[in-house]
Amino acid sequence: VGSQVIAARRRHRPATSLAVLLVVLGALWVGAGPASAHGGLVESDPDDGSVVARAPSRVTLTFDGRVQLTAREVVVSDSGGLPVGSSTSTDGPEVVVTLTDPAALADGTYTVAWSVLSDDGHPQSGALRFSIGFASPTVTPPPTPGASSRLVTSTRDVVTALSLLGLLVAAGLALFTALVLPASWPGTDVRVRVRQLTTYAAGLGAAGVVLQVPIASVYAQEQELSSLASGFAAWLVGKEMLAAAVTVAGLGVIVTAATEGPPTRARSRWLAGGALLALCGPPLVGHSRSAVPTSLLLAADALHLAAGAIWIGGLLGLALALRALSGREVLAARTLARFSSLAGGVLVVVATTGAFQAWRIVGSWSSLVGTTYGWLLLTKVALVLGVAGLGAWNRWRLLPDVVSAAGFGDRRRAATAVTRTVRVEALVLGLAIGVTGFLVGQAPG
Ligand code: HEM
Repeated sequence: VGSQVIAARRRHRPATSLAVLLVVLGALWVGAGPASAHGGLVESDPDDGSVVARAPSRVTLTFDGRVQLTAREVVVSDSGGLPVGSSTSTDGPEVVVTLTDPAALADGTYTVAWSVLSDDGHPQSGALRFSIGFASPTVTPPPTPGASSRLVTSTRDVVTALSLLGLLVAAGLALFTALVLPASWPGTDVRVRVRQLTTYAAGLGAAGVVLQVPIASVYAQEQELSSLASGFAAWLVGKEMLAAAVTVAGLGVIVTAATEGPPTRARSRWLAGGALLALCGPPLVGHSRSAVPTSLLLAADALHLAAGAIWIGGLLGLALALRALSGREVLAARTLARFSSLAGGVLVVVATTGAFQAWRIVGSWSSLVGTTYGWLLLTKVALVLGVAGLGAWNRWRLLPDVVSAAGFGDRRRAATAVTRTVRVEALVLGLAIGVTGFLVGQAPG
């Protein structure tokens, strides 16, 4: 037993993996441009507050990333609040408002009230003014655009948290069954329980990602939950629909391939393939696809999710498996050693890809400590560090006790301590995933 644990420790070289990842990220750090600011409107032509000699034929608004128009129109009005004829189009980060008849515009101040949806799914609105000839002494302000209520954002965050939890647990348990649980595992009841939990988690993940689509549509248009069905705008949530389809397909493969007996090699491949497919869904939406360098962020996000899934799936799988193993410490130690050989690398990958995303999305220390996004991220990191600390305690303090315990009673006591710690680790990691549900819905700026 001891030699298996030691062999697992030798196989695993966390220091080497960490060094390689740090070198790669260091190179990216030097090569990448500034982080995306998520500040919304960057500039306009004419400038906000400027006075121009002649009526412009169009007003151009430039944002800090790609934007989409929503059902809310961009409205140009005169100083008395009366609308002026215009049409609007977008081109990447630019919104162009073409004035229908600029020659007919009287001198005075005009207001452009705009509403757009940023590439990471956050609605933004505002207004700017320009004057022709002179600034009007009084200007009727445009109606203040109403944002979605807290009920909408809280529902969105809770649904995201549950769907991420379901997805990571289902994908993680599928990877645990395919990669960690020894084929010689005798306890069918453990496999039955793992399969049951995988199926429930897949159901939760699938229901969550599907429900996220109409909620994203409501949020994008700054509506309320009462418009969930009536206000559904498929053209605004194409990315969310694609992400949901990919995740549901992957989860479907997992549920179909899961068995109550030891999986064949082909089934193991289906389980792993389904898990990887399902995990490709979330990176298709959200902040990593609107920050730069986009392709690297997408890859980092996918790796982050895969490593996170292996971690939570491994802990839950162990929590289910170990309690069935009293009296079979050899098999228990082999399973734990297999997971341990993955766990160090998983931690390194999760931390480096998470730190990389955080750097590109948050962009500055002041945003890290001065925004809700930053504080949620710090809370998540604190929870993850807590799990890593518990994991280290388990591996280096409790596991050797199981191996070296002399009598049956001592071994059992030590094994119970290991199992209890694994359960607490799984619980705290689940909380960290829950916090992530709130994190991904928050505007970083
Ligand atoms: C030091 C540790 C970690 C850091 C710094 C970190 C950081 C981040 C950041 C910055 C994001 C992007 C959020 C966004 O899109 O706005 C993210 C996403 C995510 N993280 Fe972590 N994370 C860490 C550990 C973990 C762990 C241990 C798990 C799971 C067990 C996890 C699961 C996730 C998930 C599910 C997402 C959502 C991905 C998506 O929606 O595309 N993270 N993380």
